[in-house]
Parts: sequence; C-alpha cells; structure tokens
Amino acid sequence: MSMNLITLLYLAASICFIQALKGLSHPTTSRQGNVFGMIGMGIAVVTTIALIVKINAEIAATGIVWVVVGLLLGGSVGTIMAKRVEMTKMPELVAFMHSMIGLAAVCIAVAAVVEPQSLGIVATALDPIPSANRLELFLGAAIGAITFSGSVIAFGKLSGKYKFRLFQGAPVMFKGQHLLNLLVGLAILALGLVYTFTGDLSAFAILLVLAFIIGVLIIIPIGGADMPVVVSMLNSYSGWAAAGIGFSLNNSMLIVAGSLVGSSGAILSYIMCKAMNRSFFNVILGGFGADAGAGGPAGAQAERNVKSGSSDDAAFLLTNADTVIIVPGYGLAVARAQHALMELTEKLTHQGVTVKFAIHPVAGRMPGHMNVLLAEAEVPYDMVFEMEDINSEFGQADVVLVLGANDVVNPAAKTDPQSPIAGMPILDAYKAKTVIVNKRSMASGYAGLDNELFYMDKTMMVFGDAKKVIEDMVKAVE
Ligand code: TAP
Repeated sequence: MSMNLITLLYLAASICFIQALKGLSHPTTSRQGNVFGMIGMGIAVVTTIALIVKINAEIAATGIVWVVVGLLLGGSVGTIMAKRVEMTKMPELVAFMHSMIGLAAVCIAVAAVVEPQSLGIVATALDPIPSANRLELFLGAAIGAITFSGSVIAFGKLSGKYKFRLFQGAPVMFKGQHLLNLLVGLAILALGLVYTFTGDLSAFAILLVLAFIIGVLIIIPIGGADMPVVVSMLNSYSGWAAAGIGFSLNNSMLIVAGSLVGSSGAILSYIMCKAMNRSFFNVILGGFGADAGAGGPAGAQAERNVKSGSSDDAAFLLTNADTVIIVPGYGLAVARAQHALMELTEKLTHQGVTVKFAIHPVAGRMPGHMNVLLAEAEVPYDMVFEMEDINSEFGQADVVLVLGANDVVNPAAKTDPQSPIAGMPILDAYKAKTVIVNKRSMASGYAGLDNELFYMDKTMMVFGDAKKVIEDMVKAVE
C-alpha cells in the first residue's frame, strides 16, 4: 500500500468520524451516525495494520499476530459488554472505556520513551528523542494517566456498588485540598519540562506517578449531581491524550480522531456546565463539588407527611386536565416503563388532553438518556421539549406528571444557596397547578437530597414501580 493511499484512507476514516458525530447529534440520525463511526474505525484499523507492515516488514510478521489477538480479544469483550449492559449502566461503561483509553495512552507513551526506535521516533536506539517529541510524550502520558485514575474513581462513584470511601457519591473534601492539587499540578509541569529539555527518565517516571495521583484528587471532591459533567470532561481528556500520542507516533489518524473526541467532549462539557450552571474552569481544574454535608440530605425531614393517592386518583386528575406536562427521570428508565407511558399518552391525547414531555439535560444517567428512552417508545418528537423551551409553560399546566424524576425537579436548586445542587437549573414542575409524582418511596435521587416538591400542598405522591403505576393509570383512563 503506498503512502498516498494510506493518507487517503485516513482522510476517508476522518470524514466518517465527522459524519458519525454529526449523526449522533440527533435521535433520528443516530443509527446512521453509529454506522459511519464503525466504518471509519474499520478503515482506520485496517489502514494502520497496512502501515505497520509497510514501515517495518520484519517485525510486522510477528507483530501482526499480536495485533490480531488484541483485536479479537478486545472486540469480543467489547461485544459481550455492549450486549449485556443495561441502559441505566451506560455511564459506568463509558467511564470504564475512558479509563482504558487513558491507560492505552500511558502504555504507548512509556513504550515510546523506553524504545523510541521501535516506534520510528528515532532511527537507532542510540539516538536521543527530539525535545518536541518528548514534550508530546509528556503531555500524552500525563493526560492519559489523569484520565485513567480519574475515570476509575468516576466509575466507582457512578456504579454506587462499592463501600470504598473514594467510590462513594458524596464529595470527599479535606483541608488544603486545592493547595495540594495546585502543588501536584505544578510539580507535574516542572518535571515534564525537565524531561522535555533533559530527557531525564526519572523525571518522566515521577511525573507519571503524580499524574495518576492528581487524577484521583480532582475527581474525589465531585459528588452526586455533578458527575455527568465529569464523565464528559474525562471523555475530552481521553481524546487529548490520544491526540498527544498521535503527534509522537506521527500518526495523523490518531491526531484527528483524538482531537475530534477531545473537542467534542470539551463542547459537551461546556454545554453541560451551562445546563448545570457550573463554571467550566472549575470543572476542568477539578474540585467543583459542594461541601460535604451541605444542603438538606434525604432523611433529615423523613418524618414529614406527604399527600399520597392511587393510580386511579392520578388518572382522574389527568383526564380532567387540559394540559399535562410529563417529566421523565431515571426511575422511568429503571422501570422500563416507556412503552406503557406511550400508551397512556395516546389515551390522554385521544381524550383531548394536550400532552407534552419536558426533558432536563441531565435527567437519567447519561446525556440524552430520556430522549433515547422516549424515542424507543416512538413518542413523537414534536411532543418532546428541552428545558429552556418548556420551562415557561409549567405555570399554565393543569397537571405535571413526574415519573421517576427527583433531582431535576428539586426546587432546592433555586431556593437553598447551601444545597449541593444550588444554581443548577431545574424543570419548574413546582409552578404547575397540580403535581403528581410517581416513585417507589421517599428515597432521595442521585444527589442524595430531600425534595421539597414532594411535600407541597398541590403535590400528590403515587408510590410504586413506574411501569405498574402507569399501566394501572392506562386501565383507569380507559
Ligand atoms: P434521580 O434524581 O436520580 O431520581 C430518580 C428517582 O427515581 C429516585 O428518587 C427513585 O426514587 C425513583 N425510582 C427509581 N426506580 C424507580 C422505579 N422503578 N419506579 C419509579 N421510580 C423509581 O433522577 P433524575 O431526576 O433523572 O436526575 C438525574 C440525576 O442523575 C441528577 O442528579 C444528575 O446530575 C445525575 N446524573 C446524570 C447523568 C446524566 S448525563 N444524565 C449522569 C450521571 C448522574 P425511589 O427509590 O423512591 O423509587
């Protein structure tokens, strides 16, 4: 394969990746986007193997066997994981994948530092690595290490399964944390420059260890509701780590793909920061979580009374309303109640009720989670509204039906400056004339907070699994 053909194929793969990102930006084109992504990755892998063979024919003979073994092993594990993972566990899977990208970047950087001649960075083992390459390797390795250890902590926090303190959802804060982060960050920078200008291997090794440590330090103070931003930020870091390594290996594909992931992740982080009313710079530098224990934790007001009703009562209110706004949340996804919800929507629409869906940008456990869920049940797109488009309508709605949502309708974000979610924009469900909330208990949502909405006079709680409750509502509406 000639170098020109390789460049052309890399260009084709890059175009596929750009098309993939474009397709994935809307539910209607997301499948097409996925197909583009797979074609692009297929072209990139085959072309890279051809490139290895071309550059180093002798090691290619044995090397290719390892590449194929790696592809088969990684491909099989990836297929099994993707088939098994539940929609609600997606963010953990994404965090796990980011950690693998970070670790891959570190491994390649270490290999390149130790044996630069094998990767074509220098001609012979005796030649020193040029300073520019050392700078790229320092950046790629440091960002990769931060991505790895940060993603491992994010994985633990998102899964919520582990007892280990650092994996708990609550922020881990201690005195002098920011100063420590700053000092470790400066030390990494200083050691990176020492390595860049002198090639000192011990400086490289120490900066790598410090980068693993700071990855942990910047994620542990982030708690509860802020995790979505962390996931997209780590996504961005993993892209930049790959791009950094791409420069060292002189691989244009890795540079392009890494930059696409890095910049799209950064844009997504920025959008999520805006949605959560968080400062972008606080996020990328870590430590934007709230003080541990701030705000009203669930249980603090556990003894308070709430008004509760049955599915029949809820159905009565819904059928007598002119306008109903439905707020789906994580619990709806857990219950897999989207199809029952579509049935309820059809029945209500048939009876002349205007039904709209309100989507909060971080409802559920991944960006676009609720859009995907509703699209699965074929809820028409013109019934689905983003937060900024529907928030002004809550005041006129007769009934708001909150299904398995909690944090995204918690008025504490507006009323309690001490709350960990203070400043996060919410869906203004509390402004509706009547509010119906379905969940299984008075348990808190992801951020671990009590929710004043549940105790309001106009609120009726309908306890039970969302699927069962909605199915009962459908029967009652009939
Ligand atoms: P949450 O605040 O997590 O609340 C979900 C509620 O659903 C819970 O209070 C739970 O109460 C209820 N629930 C669980 N299973 C249910 C079932 N089978 N039937 C009925 N209800 C059920 O959800 P949200 O309002 O969607 O907010 C999302 C939260 O997750 C935010 O804090 C967000 O920051 C965070 N987060 C989001 C993402 C992204 S990118 N979307 C990623 C990570 C974290 P019961 O146990 O009482 O039923």
